Amino acid sequence: MRTLDDLFSLRGKTALITGASAGLGVELARALAIAGADVALVARRRERLESLATELRASGVRAEAIAADLGVDADIEDAVTQTEQRLGPIDVLVNNAGIALVGPSERYSRDKWDQTIRLNLTAAWLLCQEVGKRMIARGAGGRIVNVTSVISSAANPIYHGAGYSAAKAGLMNVTRQLAVEWAQHRITVNALAPGWFPTEMTEGGFAKEKFRTKTETLTPMGRLGDPRELQSALLFLTAPSSGFVTGTTVFVDGGWTAW
Ligand SMILES: NC(=O)c1ccc[n+]([C@@H]2O[C@H](COP(=O)([O-])OP(=O)(O)OC[C@H]3O[C@@H](n4cnc5c(N)ncnc54)[C@H](OP(=O)(O)O)[C@@H]3O)[C@@H](O)[C@H]2O)c1
Repeated sequence: MRTLDDLFSLRGKTALITGASAGLGVELARALAIAGADVALVARRRERLESLATELRASGVRAEAIAADLGVDADIEDAVTQTEQRLGPIDVLVNNAGIALVGPSERYSRDKWDQTIRLNLTAAWLLCQEVGKRMIARGAGGRIVNVTSVISSAANPIYHGAGYSAAKAGLMNVTRQLAVEWAQHRITVNALAPGWFPTEMTEGGFAKEKFRTKTETLTPMGRLGDPRELQSALLFLTAPSSGFVTGTTVFVDGGWTAW
């Protein structure tokens, strides 16, 4: 009989996760370490990454803080190269870094649009490409998880930000495209779509009582998520036993998309 480890263990695997200095990325990085992966933590705020790396190492895995601005192409290639030099070839990529610049569409500036597309879509795409080509050359398969949003497949009735909607929908379909192209290399590419969670990204919105109440009301579970509630979904998508799951989106949203 197979064991839980046969199904889910990432021991001996190397994972790179972006946006690991705050919010959902911290809990997703912890999940990778719980499953035994060695983890490269990528974001701009180095001290926060160092502190999480220290915590993860205490649990028995290797962890490295890699400071990078994913808005800069050269930083992306450098983060991948540094990960491979310090931890070995990448088996798991989690594209989690993101920004949400809001504003009504009639006044949504070109700068907000460009910044949002640049980080949420282009940086994730460049990381998929950089890591994917190395996975293909190595021939050992791999797992790629792109963190999208419930706003990848529907409009946002509360927090308006057309650039965010476009980027997340684009990332969802890039996920499908890569899944189809790279299935022959045993690389699975899936999306993890959160509903609403309290983080730095959302604190401004949830600080307004009427927005928070509306968010909770439109979520069938009637509450915001706990970031740890994303961990099991990530481990499902990265599991060695999930090799037939590709091109799909797992929503962890308290039922937001079920209406
Ligand atoms: N919170 C939610 O309710 C929610 C809902 C749906 C989807 N999501 C998605 O979940 C992901 C994580 O969101 P979150 O709520 O955890 O956001 P968050 O708390 O604002 O954290 C964002 C992370 O992205 C990193 N980041 C931002 N700009 C970066 C850059 N230029 N280069 C490198 N890293 C950068 C930040 O690190 P540094 O500032 O240190 O660089 C931080 O680690 C995002 O993709 C978001 O769209 C969140």
